[in-house]
Amino acid sequence: MKYSVEWKDNALQLLDQSRLPHEERYDVLSTVSEAADAIREMRVRGAPAIGVAAAYGVVLAARESEGGTSEVRKAAIMAAIDRLATTRPTAVNLFAALNRMSTALARSEPADITSRLLAEALLFHDEEKEATSAISSNGASLVPEGATILTHCNAGAIATAAHGTALGAIIHAYRLGKVKRVIATETRPLLQGARLTVWELVNEGVPTTLITDSMVGHVMHMMGVDCVIVGADRIAANGDVANKIGTYGIAVLAHAHNVPFYVAAPFSTIDMSISDGQQIAIEQRRETEVTTFGGQPVASGGSDVLNPSFDVTPNSYVTSIITERGILSAPYLSALSAMAKNQGRKRG
Ligand code: MRU
Repeated sequence: MKYSVEWKDNALQLLDQSRLPHEERYDVLSTVSEAADAIREMRVRGAPAIGVAAAYGVVLAARESEGGTSEVRKAAIMAAIDRLATTRPTAVNLFAALNRMSTALARSEPADITSRLLAEALLFHDEEKEATSAISSNGASLVPEGATILTHCNAGAIATAAHGTALGAIIHAYRLGKVKRVIATETRPLLQGARLTVWELVNEGVPTTLITDSMVGHVMHMMGVDCVIVGADRIAANGDVANKIGTYGIAVLAHAHNVPFYVAAPFSTIDMSISDGQQIAIEQRRETEVTTFGGQPVASGGSDVLNPSFDVTPNSYVTSIITERGILSAPYLSALSAMAKNQGRKRG
């Protein structure tokens, strides 16, 4: 298993996912500005990995501020938190991580700002690691024997703190001998499926078939798929799910073919502060991601171009949400509220 985010030698080490699968390069980042650029440019990507990288980005800001008065330092670190918050709008894990770091900052004493923030980032990272392990085994329990599973985008170890969410469940089920084949969509326009999911699955020895996004209906109709498992970038209180663009179409096709559609995500991806998916900010990315391929222009030109990076799948298409705290089914508002409350009690 490859880790994509590590704190090592007082620096943030990131596997540059934009270079995969052709090159495995770890970048060593020592400033918050480098961390913010890495998130914005998707050298680190995947909702949980973004959250963990941002938490360490705040530690880098604390290190950069050393030498100033505590007031000046706290103002500089808050500015860094605000800056990190502008990098990508959809994955709520980013904001969950930054909220934790700003609470830790508020509670820190002048003499221990950096060590307090580093301890919080390491704790957040550990919690996310543990969550992916529980999600993997919870998700694997839903996979039938001899299953053909379809997944979209990349929700593997490199998109998280460890193990992965959707891909963690799939690989766990494979190790239990339950998986016959995984169908991975290429995931236009940035090819997270073709570049990253296939790379991770093949490295684990899982029989994998790559398809283009437009083949999903045909494959469900003609070849048969036993379940779909995808990750999420933000889940609203009513169970509406924002995930990589194309997920909604796959959910509708799964519904039409009576295929269970599972969403695997840590609790840090659940946003109880918004009632439904309409309120989720959808990141709009550069037109050139659509009009070019491998750096070469492919579109005729003269048209408008849309490039939303995520879509929202209504909760009615979601068979279950797999979290580290258990597997939830509709009605999601009551199920998610009860789970959030229980966790609050355990912590408090
Ligand atoms: O734009 P990306 O590559 O960051 O989008 C990633 C996804 O949509 C993943 O499915 C999601 O973040 C879950 S990762 C465990």
